Amino acid sequence: MTPGIFITLEGIDGAGKSSHIEGLAAWLRERGQRVLVTREPGGTALAERLRELVLHEPMDALTETLLVFAARRDHLQQAIEPALAAGTTVLCDRFTDATFAYQGGGRGFEVAVLAQLEAWVQQGRQPDLTLWFELAPATAAQRRAAARAPDRFERQDEAFFARVQAGYERRYAAEPQRFVRIDAAQARDAVWARVVAAVQSRLAA
Ligand code: TYD
Repeated sequence: MTPGIFITLEGIDGAGKSSHIEGLAAWLRERGQRVLVTREPGGTALAERLRELVLHEPMDALTETLLVFAARRDHLQQAIEPALAAGTTVLCDRFTDATFAYQGGGRGFEVAVLAQLEAWVQQGRQPDLTLWFELAPATAAQRRAAARAPDRFERQDEAFFARVQAGYERRYAAEPQRFVRIDAAQARDAVWARVVAAVQSRLAA
């Protein structure tokens, strides 16, 4: 059995990544692939409960980080690894790059500790492709203002999101071959075309 491909979608809140994930799943299914659409934090019953806590309860950066990784551990073991082993393509709305961006960049949590947790929790598992929806923090803030009630992260100021963006930049710089950067300021159709092109070339690789 050929293992499935693990694709993650990343970007600051308001960049628009979530609006393409179902379209991408449909596109892949039309091409005969089995697809699991999932998200982080979340993706299992336990991890979804942890998500509620992380998004809505006050806590310090270490607690937040440990909960996010606890959710990830369960998600990997119960959902992502079995799906990949069965040849299913996994589309995951955020993964560990978000932890480096939000907890590392946004909250200023020690990146060396994040790297250690990443190694323990993931045992070498990394996405095969990461679609990074890049949008200026000021533009993302305008888009968020038009959306629903904000969670603990969405309520943060522009300086926080500038640090999150810088966190993504550092992950990209460390591993550029895994990422495709997508200019999320473009019209929706242009963004979609980039998404398809990126996935098509990964499938052909
Ligand atoms: P998000 O994808 O924005 O969900 P929704 O579109 O439903 O609001 O993810 C929820 C939030 O969780 C987002 O603000 C970023 C945050 N987050 C972290 O802080 N660390 C992480 O490791 C992950 C996966 C997400």
